[in-house]
Amino acid sequence: ISTMTSKSPVVDIHTHVYLPRYMDLLRSRSEVPRVLTLPSGDERLVILADEAKHASDTSQGRPIGSEYYDIAKKMEFMDQHGIDISVISLANPWLDFLGLGQAAPMARMLNTDIEKICAESDGRLFAFGVLPLVEDSLAASTCVKEIETITSTFPHIRGIILGSRGLGHGLDDPALDPVYSALEASGLMIFLHPHYGTGNESFGPRSNGHVLPLALGFPFETTTSIVRLILSGVLDRFPNLRILLAHSGGTLPFLAGRLDSCVAHDPQVASRLKLKPSEYLMKMCYDAVVYHEVGLKATTELVGEGRVMFGTDHPFFPPLKGKDGEEWMSVTTNSAAVKAVLGEEGGEGVMGGNAVRILGLDR
Ligand code: URA
Ligand code: ZN
Repeated sequence: ISTMTSKSPVVDIHTHVYLPRYMDLLRSRSEVPRVLTLPSGDERLVILADEAKHASDTSQGRPIGSEYYDIAKKMEFMDQHGIDISVISLANPWLDFLGLGQAAPMARMLNTDIEKICAESDGRLFAFGVLPLVEDSLAASTCVKEIETITSTFPHIRGIILGSRGLGHGLDDPALDPVYSALEASGLMIFLHPHYGTGNESFGPRSNGHVLPLALGFPFETTTSIVRLILSGVLDRFPNLRILLAHSGGTLPFLAGRLDSCVAHDPQVASRLKLKPSEYLMKMCYDAVVYHEVGLKATTELVGEGRVMFGTDHPFFPPLKGKDGEEWMSVTTNSAAVKAVLGEEGGEGVMGGNAVRILGLDR
């Protein structure tokens, strides 16, 4: 990617970090999610549902190195690929596995950490913060307080990353209403990101590594969770919620018509909603982390290119050969898709202009 050809900065809005404090937490655990250390000293990240069965099997999980937690490595990666600004977020599974007593102070500390990192980055880093989204009758009000703290004291945090579980019962849980209300009032963006996968039970007994959960389970999870949110009327109650969907909305751009059709044929559901499902989908933002021009084209045609933003999912999917200076395929496939769909100049908005405008990165 070259900044020379574009007037707006190149912005990566889907890029993660396991903050050092969070790494320590994962290292301290003996159950999934955890980071385990091999006799060689190498560390492995074991976080996915199907890895729980094999937590002590060191062939499970994925290698994890300093690119996952060292901000200097993030900067190196950005420089190498011509990325001017990154909007960093804690990677999954966030605080989902903690009780509120641990999750609440941890959220505050992680948001404080990430704000400091961004403030010291010379304008190159912004962030999505975390909330103590756990199953507890006091969690919603604690999240509301954290949202207020983010807006009043953490200026580099422009949104929050939200998993599909919400407070343990999905995004259509009425217990989330105070959280949605506070997010709507704050103007913070919700970055909806998967972790658990959907349809894991249909992946069969044969080991296909992480391919099925990551390639299919993740996007189906995003799809299911946001459709439940729409069908529950959340967006009629909170029409100004700002939502950014990971992985170009999972499969939603492709399935939008089928969804409309099924709702239209189900009067009980249709009568609850003010709009067609696809009309809610058109109000959301999407990342361009779909690796292919056909998927990107579906996304930009559904919502317009002004709502689609480049991302990399760094530091996941690193180059396997580990040669120094090797380009990351996750970057090049995504930027090539933007170029193929919109052309070099037409892609400027997706590559960064949209993120600057939507997340106010010039402020
Ligand atoms: N794998 C993960 O666990 N998380 C991501 O965000 C991408 C790949
Ligand atoms: Zn991601």
